[in-house]
Amino acid sequence: MRHLFARSLLAAAGALALASSLSGQTAPAPLPRLVEKDGRHALLVDGAPFLILGLQAHNSSGWPAMLPKVWPAVEYVQANTLEIPVYWEQFEPEPGRFDSSLVDTLIRQAREHRVRLVLLWFGTWKNGSSHYLPLWMKKEPQRYPRMVDASGRRVDSPSPHAGATLAADVHAFSALMRHLKAVDPVRTVIMVQVQNEPGTWGGLVRDHSPEAERLFAGPAPAELVKALGVAARPEATWSEAFGRDAEEFFHAWSIARYIDQVAEAGKKEYPLPLYINAALRDPLSPGPAGTYETGGATDNVIPIWKVAAPSIDLLAPDIYMDDSARYRKVLELYARPDNALFVPENGHTPWYAHMFFAALGRQAIGWAPFGLDYTAYGRAPIGAPVVDEETLAPFALNYRLVGPMMREAARLSFEGKLQAVAEDNGEPARTLDFGAWKAVVTYGVPAFGFGNDPPGNREPVGRALVGELGENQFVVTGAFCRVDFRPADAAKQREFVRVEEGGFERGVFRPTRIWNGDETDWGLNFASGPQIVRVTLGSY
Ligand code: DGJ
Repeated sequence: MRHLFARSLLAAAGALALASSLSGQTAPAPLPRLVEKDGRHALLVDGAPFLILGLQAHNSSGWPAMLPKVWPAVEYVQANTLEIPVYWEQFEPEPGRFDSSLVDTLIRQAREHRVRLVLLWFGTWKNGSSHYLPLWMKKEPQRYPRMVDASGRRVDSPSPHAGATLAADVHAFSALMRHLKAVDPVRTVIMVQVQNEPGTWGGLVRDHSPEAERLFAGPAPAELVKALGVAARPEATWSEAFGRDAEEFFHAWSIARYIDQVAEAGKKEYPLPLYINAALRDPLSPGPAGTYETGGATDNVIPIWKVAAPSIDLLAPDIYMDDSARYRKVLELYARPDNALFVPENGHTPWYAHMFFAALGRQAIGWAPFGLDYTAYGRAPIGAPVVDEETLAPFALNYRLVGPMMREAARLSFEGKLQAVAEDNGEPARTLDFGAWKAVVTYGVPAFGFGNDPPGNREPVGRALVGELGENQFVVTGAFCRVDFRPADAAKQREFVRVEEGGFERGVFRPTRIWNGDETDWGLNFASGPQIVRVTLGSY
């Protein structure tokens, strides 16, 4: 007994020492949290709106030996947040023994690089499989089972009805969150992703284990029937209540309930914002369930996840669709009054970079390309075959534009005063309505000349952001575009009273020069900048 007491005292002292060595201070910073007002969202970090300018490392890049190949990419793109996995198989090498060395290294090095972390808990689910289960669990497949199909054959996806797996994940995730609380008073870690793209690939729409069969034959949960507005008799079975969708809805509900229990337990230890990421179905012409990863938060089951997983703060789309119509539809589907838009993964060909601005236009709280580090894992066809500075440059441009006004952009977005656009093929001009003023964004016009008939850029790479700072005053940034303003009153014409280039320091705009002459005669032209201007407007 005495021995045990001494051991727990030692452990507590160790955590304290680590916390102060990791943090360098003792007063805790405010907890990161998500807030909503009038259907708009903000992620508060250090008590103020924060925009995640992220980069996600490759799956196997979270090891200390790999980090020297990760940080240079983070630095080059000037990301303010690194999304990086924590592996269950590493974190709990023996039942109940936790190894936080990897997580501590990440936190320590992130601080050295002045970067925040979003940790990805590779737990029960990783892309629909359970490949990150610790070895001691993998050795007991009967105790920690995979799903079975209707004929009883096991498939490579964990059963959401496996009580022992759930209990083990709850235990491990709680330990992770407890540890973060102990060592991270300065909130280097700002969010945690619970699992990775949960669901099931390969055609099987739901589990057929005895427990799953029993539940599926029983009544559908009353709160779900009510939330989906389905007219069904009390105690209606899943099939009676949801007809053709019953199996898919059952699987989504089962996974969401499982993950909610993991998330709830973790939050009890340390209430950081938690989210799950989704492998998407085609948002325009989805095939039947089973042709996409089923059971995760695809757009059709967002309402199910919302009821089943209240401890999950947001459902995030991973977008690997390099066509504009689909990309934009995904943004529309996931940006909801009850769901803050966060895009934690994107493909990383240059086209994706400018879509960051389309996400900002939908009030995103964060965005990140996937797999941009130097660990030499080529990602063709969803990314570049080689990651070098040329691959990183279009993403670096984004963060050089928005980074210097990150806090202002997040605040303006939360207040409904920020609009942003990404160029589309066949749409060389966009007008943004700010009431008394319209901002007109055009693409492909030469730096000199009226540019009445904009042709668009050869490749659609244009991007622009306009924020309303006050009456007749805007902040503008962009690339490969021209931005001009028109008074809503058509009888009047716009005058640039003052156009100042500069940047924000602690919320105050500090001009470095005044734009005039060639720089304003035809509107405000942005090439590969990066430039931020404050525009004061008048009319005549
Ligand atoms: C989506 C997953 O969430 C990532 O972890 C990774 O596997 C990519 N797909 C593909 O490389």
